[in-house]
Amino acid sequence: MTELQRIEYEPAPLLPPAPASGEAQEFISLPRPHLDGGAPLMTVLAHRKSTRAYANAPMSIQTLGELLWAANGINRPETGGHTAPSAHGYHEIDIYAALPQGVYRYEPTLHHLVLKHRADARNMTGYQDFVSKAPLDLVYVLRGSQVLDTPPQQRELFAGVAAGAICQNVSLYCASTGLATVVRGWINTRLLADALRLNEDEVPLLAQTVGEPVAN
Ligand SMILES: Cc1cc2nc3c(=O)[nH]c(=O)nc-3n(C[C@H](O)[C@H](O)[C@H](O)COP(=O)(O)O)c2cc1C
Repeated sequence: MTELQRIEYEPAPLLPPAPASGEAQEFISLPRPHLDGGAPLMTVLAHRKSTRAYANAPMSIQTLGELLWAANGINRPETGGHTAPSAHGYHEIDIYAALPQGVYRYEPTLHHLVLKHRADARNMTGYQDFVSKAPLDLVYVLRGSQVLDTPPQQRELFAGVAAGAICQNVSLYCASTGLATVVRGWINTRLLADALRLNEDEVPLLAQTVGEPVAN
């Protein structure tokens, strides 16, 4: 399958979530990131790209911790500031991680993952063939109850920008470490909300696949 076909091919019917594989702990404590690592910013920007073919390789807990911290972790503990900006500092985007052992929500303050339910929902995060092969699919979810003070006509725009900033943080982390990634808007919002067990006010906006690239 060529890159172009991967973008354009017809949607396949979504299957139900697969049974979880591996032990799903209620909480996954994430290691603190190494803040002195990574390639220089200009090199990282030169390598940023979308990839749609993934090796079937697991992701280490260190990588998962660094990636989620880069995405939207707390980088200024004294103020509770995050690595990604958000309008009014509402931080209305939650990051869900679809892993082989279960669906988890990232909690930046404690830098850990909380189990939502034991199922492998990677295949529910999009229509493209690679989503269930890569070890991690992130889903960016708008928590509507967090933005009730924002004028309705601005909520969607601000949430999209906030999710986009998180996506880009992940993409830059991946470019820095040689991981492959692609941001995805081609999702079935309703089915994905069910698969992630979201509340009525929570809406999936975007997904992002991360993993090792297929070796050339
Ligand atoms: C909001 C958004 C949604 C996207 N949705 C998809 C998608 O559903 N599937 C996909 O394969 N790529 C998706 N992409 C990736 C774009 O196709 C990709 O960025 C574009 O082709 C340029 O390629 P590059 O990222 O390698 O520079 C999306 C990108 C953005 C910013």
